[in-house]
Amino acid sequence: MTLSIGILTSGGDTPGLNAAIRGVGKACLSHYGMHIVGIRDGFRGLMENRSMALDGEALSGILTLGGTILGTSRDKPHKMPVHGKIQDMTETIVANYHANGLDCLVCLGGGGTMKNALRLAGAGLNVVTLPKTIDNDVALTDTTFGFDTALGIATDAIDRLHSTAHSHHRIIVVEIMGHRAGWLALGAGISGGADVILIPEIPYDVTVVADAIKARKRKGKPFSIVAVAEGAISRQEFTEQQESVAKKKDRRVVALEPELVYAERTLKLARQLEQLTGLEARPTILGHLQRGGTPSAADRLLATRLGTAAADLIAQRQFGFMVAAHGESSVPVRLEEVAGQVKTVPSDHPWVASARRVGTSFGD
Ligand code: F6P
Repeated sequence: MTLSIGILTSGGDTPGLNAAIRGVGKACLSHYGMHIVGIRDGFRGLMENRSMALDGEALSGILTLGGTILGTSRDKPHKMPVHGKIQDMTETIVANYHANGLDCLVCLGGGGTMKNALRLAGAGLNVVTLPKTIDNDVALTDTTFGFDTALGIATDAIDRLHSTAHSHHRIIVVEIMGHRAGWLALGAGISGGADVILIPEIPYDVTVVADAIKARKRKGKPFSIVAVAEGAISRQEFTEQQESVAKKKDRRVVALEPELVYAERTLKLARQLEQLTGLEARPTILGHLQRGGTPSAADRLLATRLGTAAADLIAQRQFGFMVAAHGESSVPVRLEEVAGQVKTVPSDHPWVASARRVGTSFGD
C-alpha cells in the first residue's frame, strides 16, 4: 500500500523550512515511493482543505529559499478564528485529513506546533513533527533549524553597529528576537562581542548595566553595544510580572501587541541608559530581518537530515514523535515529552559562563 503523507509548516517562518520540506518530500517520494501533498498555511489550510501538489518538480530548487513555499499561520486547531469567532476546528481538521486519504501529517514548527500536533495525535491522527524556530527554544533537541541563520544575521548586525557606536561614542541597544528564551541574543551577543547581554532568564538591574558602560568609558571606551532579547526584563518588571501572574491579570500585555511591549521596553532602556551614563543611546530593533532570506549551510544540513529521518520514521509506521537532533544523530522523541516544554537558557549555561569570562555584563 502506498502511504500518503501531508506536510505543513506552522508558526513563524524560519530559514531552512524549505530545505526540510524538500528533505521529507524527496525521501518520501523518491526513496520510499510514498505520495506527498503540501498543506497550505499551517493548520488553517488543513481546516479549509487547501493543498498543493508536492511532486519532484515542486520540490526542486527550493533548498536555498528562505520562508516556506507552503505558507504558514499561527492558527491553532482548537482555537481558530472562524467567521469572527474563536472555534474548536479539530473535528474539521480530522475529517479533512481522512478525506484526503492521509496516513500521516508532518508538522514543521516550534513549541506551539508541538502542542497542536500532540492534540491532533490525541484526536487519532498519525503525526510526526520537526523542530524549527530561530528562538532555539524547543525542548529535547540540541538545536532547531532557523537558529543558525538568525544567529549569523544578528551577529552581522552587531558587527555593523559596532563601527557606528564607536564613531559616535554612543550606546547602541540592539533588540534581538526571543520572547521566552535568550539563546539568540546570547549567541549573537557573544559572537558579536556585545558588552552587555540581557536575556529573559536573567532579570537585570539597569544601574548595573549603566555601571558596566561607565566602567568601559573610564577605560577609554566611551561606546557600548547592549544586546537585549525581546523578552528580557528588569528585576522590577520581573517582580511586577510575578505579582500580576499571581493575580492572573496583566493589563499592559493584554492591551498591546507583544512586539510593541518589547519595543517600548527597549526604548525605555535606551532612555534610562542615556540618563544614567551621560552617553547618547540609540535603539535598533532587528525584527523580522532575523527570519528572512537564505538559510545558512548549517540550517540546510540540519533541516535535510531531520527531514529525511522523519521519512524513515514514517516508513517504519512510527508516529507521535518529534525528530530531534542529538549530536550527529536524528532521534525520535515522544511528543508528550516535548509539548508544553520551553528550552530556556540555564543561568549557569557554559555560554553564559564564557561571556562572563570575557567581561560581558548580564546586568545582574
Ligand atoms: O517564535 C519566533 C519569533 O520569531 C519570535 O522570536 C518572535 O517573538 C515572534 O516569532 C514574532 O512573531 P510574529 O512574526 O508573529 O510577529
